[in-house]
Amino acid sequence: MELTSYQTHKCGELNETHVGADVLLTGWVHRRRDHGNLIFIDLRDSSGLVQIVFNPDDESALHQIASDLRVEYVLQVGGTIVERKPGAINADISTGKVEVKANKITVLNESLTPPFPLNQDSNVDEATRLRYRYLDLRRERMQNNLRLRHQIVKSIRSFMDDHDFIEVETPVLGLATPEGARDYLVPSRVHAGHFYALPQSPQQWKQLLMVAGLERYYQIARCYRDEDLRADRQPEFTQLDFEMSFVTEEDVMDLTQSLFCQLGDLVADKLTMNREFPRITYAESMERYGTDKPDLRYELYLQDLTKHALTSDFKVFSEAAGNGQRLRGFVVPGGADTSRKALDRLTDMAREAGAGGLVWMNFDGEGAIADITMDEIRSPVARFFSVEELIALANDAGANRGDLLLLAIGEDKLTSRVLDVLRRHVASERKLASDEELHFVFVTEFPMFEWNDTDERWSAMHHLFTAPFEEDIPLLQSDPGAVRSRAYDLVANGWELSSGSIRIHSRDLQEQVLLTLGLTLEEARIKFGHMLDAFEFGTPPHGGFAPGIDRTVALFAGEKDIREVIAFPKTKSASDLLMGAPSNVSSEQLDEVHITTNSSE
Ligand code: AMO
Repeated sequence: MELTSYQTHKCGELNETHVGADVLLTGWVHRRRDHGNLIFIDLRDSSGLVQIVFNPDDESALHQIASDLRVEYVLQVGGTIVERKPGAINADISTGKVEVKANKITVLNESLTPPFPLNQDSNVDEATRLRYRYLDLRRERMQNNLRLRHQIVKSIRSFMDDHDFIEVETPVLGLATPEGARDYLVPSRVHAGHFYALPQSPQQWKQLLMVAGLERYYQIARCYRDEDLRADRQPEFTQLDFEMSFVTEEDVMDLTQSLFCQLGDLVADKLTMNREFPRITYAESMERYGTDKPDLRYELYLQDLTKHALTSDFKVFSEAAGNGQRLRGFVVPGGADTSRKALDRLTDMAREAGAGGLVWMNFDGEGAIADITMDEIRSPVARFFSVEELIALANDAGANRGDLLLLAIGEDKLTSRVLDVLRRHVASERKLASDEELHFVFVTEFPMFEWNDTDERWSAMHHLFTAPFEEDIPLLQSDPGAVRSRAYDLVANGWELSSGSIRIHSRDLQEQVLLTLGLTLEEARIKFGHMLDAFEFGTPPHGGFAPGIDRTVALFAGEKDIREVIAFPKTKSASDLLMGAPSNVSSEQLDEVHITTNSSE
């Protein structure tokens, strides 16, 4: 590691080869132990820890200074590297075979006692961590996460460069882009009453760069979205945004697969991953997993069992199935031991997800399912079925004795949502998914539009620049719900890591899509005239992708929340607790940008 005039070595790099060397180190007091007359300090810098020993018999003045040291004091320490005695070796740290016999110490700065311990990975209240983020970031886990983030971004840049992409910066002060969230607005001083919108993504800019003939563009782009926050969402986040000309879906997916394999090499000592990413269509994914973000680390496949509902005496089933609804469910292998309390919890979860209830069936005993008796089948609805019917149901579902079958009936949208929640819960309870494994999959052929009940109109499922399947174009006006789009997602372990699509590149088709979305031609030209115009000047066929960097790093770092891999994240209510943003501003500042507010807070 590079050194400055304060240092001759970095703490974490010292080992037996340095024995006898005189060193000058800088860092923070990580831990201090007073062993009678010997004082030990673990000194920490960005490279790691080394133990410093102060002996009053050798240096009594130094020993006096050392006894006044507290955690997080900043020091410059001079000394000689000596070997530790065999019993004193610390195998947990790389410098554990040596220590520094101090002969010089300068306290460069003192520290208040930190509001939480920095030398252990203890659970600290989130608000305190964010308020003192600069201390939180001193902790080993956070240092490792930021370092991994750096390695990933560095690796992305070299990959993109190797594949002939050029990095182009695009404006942050722009026009609202329609990615589906609310915009963050910036008032203009010069143009009274006008606003810039911070980009939800550089979508339109990157397409215009294709019109400009760049052919391969990328950017590590900051995006801003005013939306409800969750563990995988921040109001500002980072994408690897890229766009390519003259490509099909396969070109974009192949390139992305190679990129993620290269990134996987960075964590190969901790995580395994599949290196061929399967492709499944949206329809298959919804059918099999009930979600477009399937976690392929475990099976628990959903099955269509409607035919058993149609013929059953259980009215809830037969009536719903008669109305065209489907009975769907999945088997939990070995799940017949699930406690009544756990089954009640699953039922509550199903209700919270919108189901009227959950039907469960336990197939007890041993041996073939064909020999099971009524006494061995436990289910609140068992009495509505004959044992033959239940055996047929179990056979179709693939349930054996010892298994649990979970069933939900309703519209597909509902059963998918309910069974997805249950699958994920069961997998996590039964530890079916390994934390050391990443399983990537591309999901393709998304529907082009989804019906928005509140606004009573179609909205774009990906975004409005996404191309429809060529053969579905005639359906744009007559049956928008049946139009498939050329959109694709990259999903890993149940996380959507990236979305993208092949784009529309003709004015005529773009106008048709805008009409389907409920815009008049005049509105389309006011909002998107710049894109429509550009499409008339020799726009190449093009497509792109935008892997979220925060989610990618979190996944590779084994973190469940993207805030753990962002240096200065916002809280769930989009506040910055460290800086105190958002804040009110002076009335002069507001006057300058022609704004009056009616909030006194
Ligand atoms: P999309 O809106 O799907 O597509 O976003 C792409 C990826 O960005 C990440 N992401 C987020 N990460 C953290 N916090 C958020 N609030 C957040 N929102 C999105 C996710 C997601 O998969 N312009 C298109 C891409 C394209 O078509 O090329 C776009 O932005 O990882």
